[in-house]
Amino acid sequence: MHGVEKIFQPDIFKNKVVFCTGGAGTICRGQVEALVALGANATIVGRNKEKTEKAAAEMSKIRHDAKVIGLSVDVRNYESLAAAVKTTVEQLGGIDILICGAAGNFLATIEQLSPNAFKTVMDIDVLGSFNTFKAASDELIKSKGQVIFVSATLHYRGVPYQGHVSAAKAAIDSLSQVIAIEYGPKGVRSNIIAPGPIAGTEGMDRLSPNQDATAKSVPVGRMGTISDIALSTVYLCSDAASFVNGAVVVVDGGSWHVTSTF
Ligand code: HXC
Repeated sequence: MHGVEKIFQPDIFKNKVVFCTGGAGTICRGQVEALVALGANATIVGRNKEKTEKAAAEMSKIRHDAKVIGLSVDVRNYESLAAAVKTTVEQLGGIDILICGAAGNFLATIEQLSPNAFKTVMDIDVLGSFNTFKAASDELIKSKGQVIFVSATLHYRGVPYQGHVSAAKAAIDSLSQVIAIEYGPKGVRSNIIAPGPIAGTEGMDRLSPNQDATAKSVPVGRMGTISDIALSTVYLCSDAASFVNGAVVVVDGGSWHVTSTF
């Protein structure tokens, strides 16, 4: 699954529990699949009940003894997140790895964005990430666990049509830094994964219809894959990264550094 078994020991996440928002989506699903393949059990939450439950059922087949629960939750609603955390603790025993990946996006200039459109994306991405961490933080302290926020590289420079998402991802990066400092002493690590252009994702399908041209612009000469993000997630969640806290792991083939063609 995502090639993790070729690089990592098969049971490094045995007895670990993952809680992931947006876990039925493309990138986050890959992250959870990789962790489950290496021994973890998981809860995935998403707004679409049918999609989330179907994804969880499919992911339960990754290992013969895997348990993956799918719950319908809108991350803008703190109470429903707290209930999902409670269900996870009751059914899986706690939370060791939190992945905050639920996000919303569409293409719109600042001129086209209504105040409610801007607020909607800020609420899903920023308030949703805050709510998720807040709901799960006591469990992470108990397990000396960790959180990974799924961010982006958009906000390192100005990207047109992405003002709302760029503002949201910048806020998430800041949130992670503060959590790293406030919760590091409690044994909880906080890090960011910042994917670049990843093929086969909802984000890229919306943002980049011409992915051949995008691939040519990436310094390593290809689009990223969902497995690239999954493998980086496994690294960050493993003991190999036990001293990595407050970091941003950019997984983009060098894309965001490109300023011009030559
Ligand atoms: C302008 C838009 C719009 C668009 C919605 N709005 N789509 N404005 N252009 N294309 C406005 C609406 O008119 C409304 O404002 C406000 O946004 C809220 O819209 P709703 O449809 O009521 O919101 P909601 O049902 O909560 O849906 C949220 C959503 C939707 C973000 C708009 O697209 C969604 O659910 N997305 C989830 C899936 C998703 O986006 N995945 C991709 C994530 S990828 P008014 O003023 O009319 O009330 C990602 C990667 C980022 O995040 C990095 C990439 C490199």
